[in-house]
Amino acid sequence: MELPEKVHALFTQPIVLLNQAALSRPPWGHYSREAAAFINEMGNNSARAQGLVGAGGRPNPITQAHTLGETNARLFLLAQPGPTGTPVLVGLLKIGTKQLFHWDANGRMRELQNQVCVLDFYVHEDYQRGGFGKLLFHAMLGHEGIAPERFAYDRPSPKLLGFLRKHYGLADFVPQQNKFVIFEKFFVERPLAPPSPYDSVMNRPLTARGAQGRRR
Ligand code: COA
Repeated sequence: MELPEKVHALFTQPIVLLNQAALSRPPWGHYSREAAAFINEMGNNSARAQGLVGAGGRPNPITQAHTLGETNARLFLLAQPGPTGTPVLVGLLKIGTKQLFHWDANGRMRELQNQVCVLDFYVHEDYQRGGFGKLLFHAMLGHEGIAPERFAYDRPSPKLLGFLRKHYGLADFVPQQNKFVIFEKFFVERPLAPPSPYDSVMNRPLTARGAQGRRR
């Protein structure tokens, strides 16, 4: 995707990291309108690529410039030199934090506060399967300083699942109703406490424990 000439100088490195605060202060703040336009367009492209479309085929994007603050999002943008040597936007990767509930294969629930999530990931169709996704993802991991299995993945597409399997050996997960994927490797270092006899409804007393014996 072509980038407006005004912002070429801001892409001094292939990968640029933005959040709501960075967008509102210099140097990005000087070009907030241009930046919002290309972020939104790339977000729309990503939504179409993932089949996130609403009425009339309108994209229902996950990435929009004005909502970056809502999930404390960090947006990684990848640019590459285009045919004329000026930077073109090739990919985006959005991460943010959410509160999630996860049920394991035994139906035991775990609450994850401030869970860091991969919310959106897109490489332009002309560049897919060229290693650009890996480049972007790897840079994000380096910045965040956490391993790929530590993330929750919001509605990962078959392409993303293939990507994670190929590059990071992540494959096993318990499907969730909320469509977030958390790989089993996440839980290896964070096992749940041993089950209490009251974890199962079958074992739960029908009366409050303190009330037992007072009933006639
Ligand atoms: N079908 C199946 N797997 C695919 C794929 C496709 N069309 N495109 C990429 N992959 C997976 C494969 O494992 C592939 O390895 P392979 O070519 O040896 O089979 C690997 O990703 C390639 O890695 P890389 O070149 O670094 O990734 P990429 O630049 O293609 O970026 C995505 C990966 C997922 C970001 C990119 O495919 C994309 O934007 N897809 C459309 C949007 C999307 O599905 N986003 C995920 C958000 S839920």
